[in-house]
Amino acid sequence: MRAEMNTRSMDQIVLTRTGDRPDLLQLRRAVQPEARRGQVVVRVEAAGVSFAEVQLLRGLHPFPPRMPAVPGYDLVGRITAVGPRVDHWKPGDRVAAMPRTGAWQEYVAVPASGLARVPEDIPAATAVALVCNGVTAWQMLHRRARVRPGGTVLVQGAGGGVGSLLTAMAVRHGIRVIGTSSPAKHDALRAMGAEPVDYRGDDVAAAVRELAPDGVDAVFDHLGGRSLDTGWSLLAPGGTLVSFDSSVEGYEPGQWFRPHLPAMRRVMGWKLRRMLGRTGDRRATMYYVRPGDAYREDLEAMFKLVRTGELRPEIAGTYPLVKAADAVTELMNRRTVGKLVLLP
Ligand SMILES: NC(=O)c1ccc[n+]([C@@H]2O[C@H](COP(=O)([O-])OP(=O)(O)OC[C@H]3O[C@@H](n4cnc5c(N)ncnc54)[C@H](OP(=O)(O)O)[C@@H]3O)[C@@H](O)[C@H]2O)c1
Repeated sequence: MRAEMNTRSMDQIVLTRTGDRPDLLQLRRAVQPEARRGQVVVRVEAAGVSFAEVQLLRGLHPFPPRMPAVPGYDLVGRITAVGPRVDHWKPGDRVAAMPRTGAWQEYVAVPASGLARVPEDIPAATAVALVCNGVTAWQMLHRRARVRPGGTVLVQGAGGGVGSLLTAMAVRHGIRVIGTSSPAKHDALRAMGAEPVDYRGDDVAAAVRELAPDGVDAVFDHLGGRSLDTGWSLLAPGGTLVSFDSSVEGYEPGQWFRPHLPAMRRVMGWKLRRMLGRTGDRRATMYYVRPGDAYREDLEAMFKLVRTGELRPEIAGTYPLVKAADAVTELMNRRTVGKLVLLP
């Protein structure tokens, strides 16, 4: 419920402590932020709901903010105020930002250095699907793995926010996609052009080998741990394993960095072996999305593809800010295909 209005106050979602319960996400009234040096204030049009918030709730976020915290990794909105020492932006500009936390509120102050421009004719929910998930998928495919048309890739979690975009981009690029998901999402994966594998029921390695006996040119893995060993074993000579998170289950709340250590150890080991020429030209790399020139360039390239209809980000659903807990519940219950979006 929207509390009483005041021109300088706003709604926000706040988390006061971690726990595996979306109802810990509470709506509250807060004072609108001001733009400090190097910052702009953005009126948020759309904010993404992503696995990062699930990890935050569970106390497994790799960079946990201090509580109480406003979640929200990525956003699209319009600048309402510009702080000192901001040169290239003005009130009214439509922008994308990736503050990592803080997007789930009506107004947010963000560093101007991380902003990217958003065209007026792209719906906010579509644009926000690309701000973090789209850039992650694009850069892993085109900048890290550099898979050519005709190649074959394995996408873990192909029905998720990142996975669905990665699948769409790869298929558009003439790449064959084998995608893992729970069986309920297999029809959606087929509709996207992927060949589904059930990560719960199948022996993933055997199922992929049956589909691609010569191995795959890239594996995109957000699970970490032993899943990376499986991915590595499936690579064809010259192939690339991209590790982009460690969301494997089995860790306790508060063990926020522990899941990442096995992934780091593995990737470093493979890098060392590659330096010694012992990987058959296979390589492993870790990916983490960052704002900057490449980020802006890639986002712009994707906006162009959206305009021409060549890229259609899958939107799993849109929710008002007050329903943030419901959106997170949907994500935690794995009922979504594509990106969930809050419209504050
Ligand atoms: N490195 C980076 O810069 C970066 C950027 C963005 C996101 N990420 C990471 O990317 C991952 C995906 O994020 P998202 O927002 O797209 O999350 P999401 O929408 O929740 O998607 C995650 C997907 O993982 C799947 N999954 C769960 N367990 C699995 C398993 N054992 N095997 C295969 N798939 C499994 C789920 O599939 P089912 O529903 O079929 O169970 C779900 O579709 C997260 O770990 C996130 O932290 C990293």
